[in-house]
This record gives sequence, C-alpha cells and structure tokens, in this order.
Amino acid sequence: MYGMKKIIIANWKMNPESATKAKELFIGVKQVASKLSNVKTVIATPFVYLSEISKLYRGHRIEFAAQDVFWEKRGSFTGEVSSAMLKDSGATHVIVGHSERRLLGEADVEVNQKVLASTQAGLTVILCIGESDRDHRDGTHLSFLTSQLESALKGISKNRLSKIIIAYEPIWAIGKSEADAMKGDELHETVLFIRKVLTGIFGKNLAFKVPILYGGSAGKSNTEVLLTEGMVDGLLVGHASLKIAEFSDMLKIAQKI
Ligand code: PGA
Repeated sequence: MYGMKKIIIANWKMNPESATKAKELFIGVKQVASKLSNVKTVIATPFVYLSEISKLYRGHRIEFAAQDVFWEKRGSFTGEVSSAMLKDSGATHVIVGHSERRLLGEADVEVNQKVLASTQAGLTVILCIGESDRDHRDGTHLSFLTSQLESALKGISKNRLSKIIIAYEPIWAIGKSEADAMKGDELHETVLFIRKVLTGIFGKNLAFKVPILYGGSAGKSNTEVLLTEGMVDGLLVGHASLKIAEFSDMLKIAQKI
C-alpha cells in the first residue's frame, strides 16, 4: 500500500505495572504522536487500562487497541472480553493471533473466530502471523505463512477486508536487540509473498489495500530501513514502545518517510 499514513502500533504487552505508569507513558507518547500528520499511532494497552487511557486523547491521530478479544457476544465465559466491550472502552483496533497467545494454546481456528467476530463488530483487526524458524533455506516458512493467512481469513468477505491489517512478526526476531530484527531486503521479499497470498484469496485490487506491518525488535535504529527497504506500511513495536523517547523518535522517523 503506497501513499497512505504509516501505522505504528505500540504493543505494551503486560506492561506497565500500574495505571499511573500507563498514564505517564501514554501522555509522554501523545506529545509527539498527536502532532504527526503522516503517522497513525495505535496504542495497544492491557484491557484494564484501555478505558482510562483512551479518554486521555480525543483526536484522530492516535487510536487504541486491545491485545486480544473473545468471539462470543456475551454470556458465561469467565475471564473473557467481547468486541463490544472493547469498543465501549475506546478501542478501534484489536491484536489477534499474537505469537505469545498462540504459544499459550491459541489455535488457528480460534484466531479465525476472533477475526470474524471483531471485524463484524466494526473493530480493525491487527492479525499477527509469523514463522518460528530463522532458517529460510527450504522455504517451509512460506507454506506456513500461507496456511496461517488462509485459516485466519477464512470466511472474511471482501467488504470486511478493509478492517484487516496484517502484522508479520517472525517469532525468531521478537524481543531481541535491533540487530536481530529481520533485514530490509528479506522483509521486502516476505511482504511481496504475503501480498501474493492475499491476492490469491481476494484479488489484486483489494489485496494491495491491506496494510502489512512488521514486528520483531523494531527500534529507533532500524525503523527507517524496515519501512523503506522492507516496504512495510508500518510497525508493531513491543519493548521499544515502553520507552517514551525511543518510541517518539520512531514515530518522528516514520513521519518523514
Ligand atoms: P518486540 O515485540 O518489539 O519486543 O520484539 C514485538 C511484538 O511481539 O509485537
């Protein structure tokens, strides 16, 4: 997708440890994010902070996400949170299928149910896919990515595709140092491949409108190369999004691209 705003998503994961610290972090990021016309910043907070944090901003440059969702609308599902509840708490986006949730047992079929339910409710889904093995020589990562995409997007009608963002996060690159992130040229190849798979499912015109982001040790030092050489539409940022100065610098770099 070319010519659109860059999408930079802060995935706070299970951080910070108090609402006070969450507010401080958000207010720090907001100073910069609210000024950038070329960047859409999305803050994915833990459920418990969503409502409070989302009330601290009223413009359109920053939006809010949850990190998970349940597919049922209501009922006896102890511990779960519905799409409607997320919207009511100020979320417009939700991360689905993050590798850390898949590691805890989330299966492809559940990812698909979450994608269907949350897009139906009007949330934009940040659908995470990614292989675990760094060795790409035999090409098995490509068939793995294909099957993750096909199963997660099963039953998604063409008119719902505008509610999908793909976050490509190779598991081997998550939570490391910036030097361990995927290299720009390799990322570009994978992005082209993901577009090809999307084209196979939805046709070229629609497939080219789906934003594809990268996640996995994105930080200040590699933001530019990932966005330019990698040719992604944005980044899903984990640990670097917890540091106000570093994340703000990443937003400023994205603004210039
Ligand atoms: P990281 O996490 O930036 O800390 O590697 C990214 C993610 O897991 O979304």
